[in-house]
Amino acid sequence: MTQQDIINESIQYFKDKFSGEATGHDWFHIQRVWKLSKNIAKKEGEMDMFVVEMGALLHDIADHKFHDGDENIGTVKAAEYLEKYDIEDEQKQKIVDIVKEISFKGQRVPTKMSSKEGEVVQDADRLDAMGAIGVARTFAYGGSKNREIYNPIVKPVCHTSFAAYKVSTAPTINHFYEKLLTLKDRMNTNTSKKEAIRRHEFMESFLQNFYQDWEGSL
Ligand code: ADP
Ligand code: NI
Repeated sequence: MTQQDIINESIQYFKDKFSGEATGHDWFHIQRVWKLSKNIAKKEGEMDMFVVEMGALLHDIADHKFHDGDENIGTVKAAEYLEKYDIEDEQKQKIVDIVKEISFKGQRVPTKMSSKEGEVVQDADRLDAMGAIGVARTFAYGGSKNREIYNPIVKPVCHTSFAAYKVSTAPTINHFYEKLLTLKDRMNTNTSKKEAIRRHEFMESFLQNFYQDWEGSL
């Protein structure tokens, strides 16, 4: 099996597994992250494109949010998935590490990636959390968790631990302050830093309009 065969088989696997998912972590999210990752990587010079592509395709294989907060589930499932393929150990490790390290864990919690390939995939995943798509995904997720859209009484919190971030049940608008608006300054690559500015500006403008409309005045 060539590396391209493994990629093609994985595309089919994740398409089947995540099609129709309704929290914003559906196949089209994975597909966008995969495309974005390839496009960012092309501009960022030499790196292992197989690791970039597989890291992107596997990155949401099993998320703690949908597995009772189990933080190791992604690492375990990624390693299990890769077992059946003949891939160099070093590449396998890099792909598993991407799944392990990629997630946002709170505003004051560092999330450093251990490879260049991982930095690219993390940027792609975070770009897809921003801009117009980011707004849509965030409210889809909030709705799936029965969250309010907005409640002026509940103020955003700056999380200093993953544990505190994980158990939050705040209204969806708070997620913009707790995560989405901080992503622009957490991009790893120069290519993503530039793209993040456009997506950040859209979210600022969305929020400004949201508060204006909230008042019910004309
Ligand atoms: P990461 O990909 O860094 O692990 P997540 O999977 O937690 O990030 O988040 C991906 C997207 O899911 C977010 O960008 C957002 O759209 C949505 N999401 C996650 N947590 C929340 C939340 N508490 N409130 C609203 N949306 C959320
Ligand atoms: Ni993702």
